[in-house]
Amino acid sequence: MASAAAVGTSLPLFLLLVSTLIAASASPSSAAEAQAPQELLLDFKASLRDPSGALSGWSRSAPYCNWPHVACTSAAAAANAAVSVSLSLQGLGLSGELSAASLCRVPGLVALSLASNGFNQTIPLDLARCASLASLNLSAGAFWGPLPEQLAALPALVSLDLSGNSFEGQVPAELAALGSLEVLDLGGNRLSGVLHPALFRNLTSLHLLDLSGNQFLESELPPEIGRMSSLRWLYLQGSGFTGAIPESFLGLEQLQVLDLSMNSLTGAVPPGFGLKLQKLMALDLSQNGLSGPFPEEIGKCSMLQRFEVHDNAFTGELPGGLWSLPDLRVIRAQNNRFTGRLPEFPSGQSRLEQVQLDNNSFSGGIPQSIGQVRTLYRFSASLNELNGSLPENICDSPEMSTINISRNSLSGTIPEFRSCRRLVSLYLAGNGFTGPIPASLGDLPVLTYIDMSSNDLTGGVPAELQNLKLALLNVSYNNLSGRVPPSLISELPAVFLQGNPGLCGPGLPNDCDAPLRKHQALALAATVASFLTGVALLAVGAFAVCRRLHGSEPSPWKLVLFHPVKITGEELLAGFHDKSIIGRGAFGKIYLIELQDGQNIAVKRLVNSGKLPFRAVKNEMKALAKVRHKNIAKMLGFCYSDGEVSIMYDYLQMGSLQDLICAHQKFTMAWKGRVRIAMGVALGLAHLHHDHTPQVLHRDLKASNVLLDDEFEPRIAGFGVDRVVGEMAYQTSMASDLNYKCYVAPEQSRAKNPTHLMDVHSFGVILLELVTGKPAEQPASDDSVDIVRWVRRRINVADGASQILDPSISRTAQQGMQAALELALRCTSVMPNQRPAMDEVVRSLQQLCFSVHPQTPPQPTEIVLEP
Ligand SMILES: *[C@@H]1O[C@H](CO)[C@@H](O)[C@H](O)[C@H]1NC(C)=O
Ligand SMILES: *[C@@H]1O[C@H](CO)[C@@H](O)[C@H](O)[C@H]1NC(C)=O
Ligand SMILES: *[C@@H]1O[C@H](CO)[C@@H](O)[C@H](O)[C@H]1NC(C)=O
Ligand SMILES: *[C@@H]1O[C@H](CO)[C@@H](O)[C@H](O)[C@H]1NC(C)=O
Ligand SMILES: *[C@@H]1O[C@H](CO)[C@@H](O)[C@H](O)[C@H]1NC(C)=O
Ligand SMILES: *[C@@H]1O[C@H](CO)[C@@H](O)[C@H](O)[C@H]1NC(C)=O
Ligand SMILES: *[C@@H]1O[C@H](CO)[C@@H](O)[C@H](O)[C@H]1NC(C)=O
Ligand SMILES: *[C@@H]1O[C@H](CO)[C@@H](O)[C@H](O)[C@H]1NC(C)=O
Repeated sequence: MASAAAVGTSLPLFLLLVSTLIAASASPSSAAEAQAPQELLLDFKASLRDPSGALSGWSRSAPYCNWPHVACTSAAAAANAAVSVSLSLQGLGLSGELSAASLCRVPGLVALSLASNGFNQTIPLDLARCASLASLNLSAGAFWGPLPEQLAALPALVSLDLSGNSFEGQVPAELAALGSLEVLDLGGNRLSGVLHPALFRNLTSLHLLDLSGNQFLESELPPEIGRMSSLRWLYLQGSGFTGAIPESFLGLEQLQVLDLSMNSLTGAVPPGFGLKLQKLMALDLSQNGLSGPFPEEIGKCSMLQRFEVHDNAFTGELPGGLWSLPDLRVIRAQNNRFTGRLPEFPSGQSRLEQVQLDNNSFSGGIPQSIGQVRTLYRFSASLNELNGSLPENICDSPEMSTINISRNSLSGTIPEFRSCRRLVSLYLAGNGFTGPIPASLGDLPVLTYIDMSSNDLTGGVPAELQNLKLALLNVSYNNLSGRVPPSLISELPAVFLQGNPGLCGPGLPNDCDAPLRKHQALALAATVASFLTGVALLAVGAFAVCRRLHGSEPSPWKLVLFHPVKITGEELLAGFHDKSIIGRGAFGKIYLIELQDGQNIAVKRLVNSGKLPFRAVKNEMKALAKVRHKNIAKMLGFCYSDGEVSIMYDYLQMGSLQDLICAHQKFTMAWKGRVRIAMGVALGLAHLHHDHTPQVLHRDLKASNVLLDDEFEPRIAGFGVDRVVGEMAYQTSMASDLNYKCYVAPEQSRAKNPTHLMDVHSFGVILLELVTGKPAEQPASDDSVDIVRWVRRRINVADGASQILDPSISRTAQQGMQAALELALRCTSVMPNQRPAMDEVVRSLQQLCFSVHPQTPPQPTEIVLEP
């Protein structure tokens, strides 16, 4: 399906392209004998539903050649007609009971596109009467049913695009009669069964064949395809093909793109593969069961740009010639059993951008010439047997963004990475590196992920790392020592520091300052104390103010701060007025309060709270405040009285995800941004579930509890409120909050104890919101169902997915959206045991992140999404 778009621009265009528009007056003459074309077209229009009025310009007052979406060209060649007519009705929101009977009588009709509409029907058989048709495009038109053999009666057909529908059954062998066909796109349907060899024997003019994404096909690759000598684009990925790659494929001399990925192919690639494929630009054999060594001849394909063979069982060395191909951009060979050394890169001429060799058995050193490849932006070779030291120049490429050489046998010190201005991820874990962590890493402007765990590094954690906006700093299991810089401790979970007995600091087993406070080892108390000596005083001060303000009331207020916040009790209480309400949830209102120093904080005032004693609430709050993660909202402190608890959070500029989705009823964020939000929420939730003992459950996850910073990085708020208000009050509040019922897992009302899988359900609902672009409650204005049911109702009908996915997102993102939709459906399974745990969700989303990773090197502002 993706192929159709790619080809649209590069194929020689067929007859349908307009060369000269016929003047309005030159209307066809034969109106006397036959019905006039304009009447036929109006008949056809009458069979359509056109809710947006796209065809309202079709009226008798203008010559039909001037009608919108109609083009006429002079066509001396077209039989029996002075003009040839093209109808381009794609993407007009059309539906209805399509009937082609009158349409096909329009003389000279050469091209018909009904693509990207909502026809919910089978192909009208009378289309077979459109004898002059050269191009028929029904892609993504919501068609279903069998492919009618009657299509074979369109002798002039050059291009047939039926992709992205729900066609079922076998591909009729009769289509072999379409001897002039150059484009046959059947991708993304539900075609099944065996492909008939005769079908391909006769289609010798084909330039493009797309059978991809028909997962129910049960066929070997037909050797006949190898004899379609004009073939340039062959897309057979994801269609259940079995068996070996036929030897005949070796002779496809015009082939530019060959995609056989995601099938169940086995056996070796035929010897000599590549020798005759002198035009091949992209080869994708990934995700099959192919084995044996890869034929050397691929190194002769001088136009090759992408070589993707990952996730197979290949053995032997990577063909040596590959590395010196002048145009090669991408090598993806991870998850195979390749062996041998990595060769040096040919100096100064390589255009490689991505090299992924993870999980093989490569040995020897990392090539010294790696820094000379000026275009390289990803080098990953984790899980191999590489040894020796890191080349000093490993990130000399001005584009370098990701280096992953975890889990090898590398040694020596870590060089100063001074030139890596675009380095985002640096994974060096599980090697034998020694010496210090270079302080100069703190100067790299976009470095976000650092994993140096399980090495033999010594020295301190450099304070310079505080300059970075880190999402991951894993230095566990080294031999580091000394004081950990304070902001690193507060921003990152302590597990990333463990296994370094010499490290000290608040929250760690070793307190740097003194052994005298052992009895006070409560990490949080220590954090507050060493953070800012003033904070404790501040808290006490504020506490006093609260008491004074409410002096006449029986219950004094107590203010406890976990972070330095310049707030007085007066300011807090004065802030609770209606004008500053920014949200309402199950547990009460949320206020935005601006402090005197300009800082904004959000305060969640919990109704029905304050029933638990202060000490209990304080202990729970302390435990919750200890949860620190890039995707968890920072809890600044809380205020307590008998009868009410208010929690203070860092206020984030962009409000909540709910605000974003509901803004003017138009949620326009690009897919990449949405994946990033999903990933952030998943990482935050996974952190709650998996990095804490006892596990922290959120129990109220919803879009309004996902806050967004000014770069749309999400932070989860509002977790663990049940522990502060008590289970009874939690149950009552949740039950009374009818607005957000659909986030709540179906088993919640009958389950004895809350589980992490209930949170997974809530996460799934958020993911559905991101995929559909619709709010969770009442996604459709004309229907009162919630998003889970709305999606379920559509998922099983023909081509339902195309109605579910947010139409404002470009079709190129569809594969990713489809995968996200499937993940969301698993997360929202009715049966809790069918939902994935959050760490598995994170892994699934990672794959999506890689697939939205731009093909070109990322700009510094585009932080690559990696956990
Ligand atoms: C069919 O129409 C779609 C939507 O307009 C377009 O993207 C695609 O390239 C067309 N197919 C062919 C073969 O031109
Ligand atoms: C398609 O049509 C069938 C009836 O033919 C109907 O039941 C179904 O709901 C329709 N699907 C959509 C998405 O409109
Ligand atoms: C093969 O194509 C030719 C026209 O190119 C046609 O005459 C013939 O009938 C086709 N054969 C089959 C089996 O359809
Ligand atoms: C490594 O690759 C093999 C296939 O060669 C695969 O089965 C295995 O799961 C991979 N390991 C990892 C950690 O990805
Ligand atoms: C780096 O490699 C390790 C080991 O294969 C893997 O677990 C990790 O996810 C990789 N990280 C990235 C960002 O590719
Ligand atoms: C790397 O390993 C190979 C054996 O695989 C060994 O011969 C070589 O000396 C090692 N090199 C270094 C620098 O340790
Ligand atoms: C940090 O590194 C340790 C040791 O390699 C590993 O066990 C742990 O899973 C890592 N944590 C994360 C979140 O990567
Ligand atoms: C850790 O480093 C210290 C010196 O800082 C050294 O004495 C000790 O032996 C090292 N421990 C290990 C396990 O390498």
